[in-house]
Amino acid sequence: LRQKYLELIGGAADEAALEDLRVRAIGKKGEVSLAMRELGRMSPEERKEAGPRLNALKDEITSALAAKKAALEDAALDARLMTEWLDVTLPGRTRRAGTIHPISQVTEEVTAIFAGMGFAVAEGPQIESDWYNFDALNIPGHHPARAEMDTFYMARAEGDNRPPHVLRTHTSPVQIRHLEAHGAPCRIIAPGRVYRADYDQTHTPMFHQVEGLAIDRDISMANLKWVLEEFVKAFFEVDDVELRFRASHFPFTEPSAEVDIRCSWQGGTLKVGEGDDWLEILGSGMVHPKVLAAAKVDPDQWQGFAFGMGIDRIAMLKYGIPDLRAFFDADLRWLRHYGFAA
Ligand code: PHE
Repeated sequence: LRQKYLELIGGAADEAALEDLRVRAIGKKGEVSLAMRELGRMSPEERKEAGPRLNALKDEITSALAAKKAALEDAALDARLMTEWLDVTLPGRTRRAGTIHPISQVTEEVTAIFAGMGFAVAEGPQIESDWYNFDALNIPGHHPARAEMDTFYMARAEGDNRPPHVLRTHTSPVQIRHLEAHGAPCRIIAPGRVYRADYDQTHTPMFHQVEGLAIDRDISMANLKWVLEEFVKAFFEVDDVELRFRASHFPFTEPSAEVDIRCSWQGGTLKVGEGDDWLEILGSGMVHPKVLAAAKVDPDQWQGFAFGMGIDRIAMLKYGIPDLRAFFDADLRWLRHYGFAA
């Protein structure tokens, strides 16, 4: 009996088999238990000899079961450790961090440079009323500039009598809003998104401008020229940059000038400061008296300059990017190629 059970226990494959053996050996009707029951029918001499032997056998089987159970548990743990091992010498997996979009970076740079010249930051809504986007800026309803701007009009339900609204076509309405709220004198920039139905290599239907406005008693075009030159030098990190002021026309400035930067396209990339090409970066001029009046500022006492610069344009120039549309494709490979994403 002893031989048989110790061997069976030693060979048990799992805990279920062990339990089975326990029942067969020392369970109520197990072989050892039955043998113990026989003790009653034995002579005292026989019993004296068999009793301790059977008790010892029962103890031995009990501890053999326990030992085997512990051994099985160890083996199970070993097996698990083999499959769940971790190689701490493997190189870590890198996670790419998010980065600031190049246009946002450029907007921050522009803001910092103008802040250094004493310009505060103003903001206005992207959905703008007809009045602020056009009328107050001396662009009445019939004016061809409205058509030229390829304006996105907000849809209106029948019977909606609210004044017409547009996606602002420029940041100039912020001039009116700021002057209305704070009056003259003022020195602000207003960066933000603007919209026009236009799409090619250098135009996207949503783009970014930064408006500039300086109003005081005797501000002139000379101040405008100095401010723009200082800005361009700081932004492109050069001692000298060539700007071209072209006489132009805007309904909200008189006189008006458009400003270009000398550049060239070399093998698909854009170079600033050299070559025979010019990239227009802004429109500017002396704020029209009618615009001041519309913003409740007395044109007999105050005057100043305004400009509207394309943030995307100067970002293209700074980073040598020939196609503006790529800025808004959210293509990580492109962003990484130009170092804009990790
Ligand atoms: N608002 C003009 C545009 O979007 C730019 C501009 C701003 C011109 C201020 C003159 C003065 O083209």
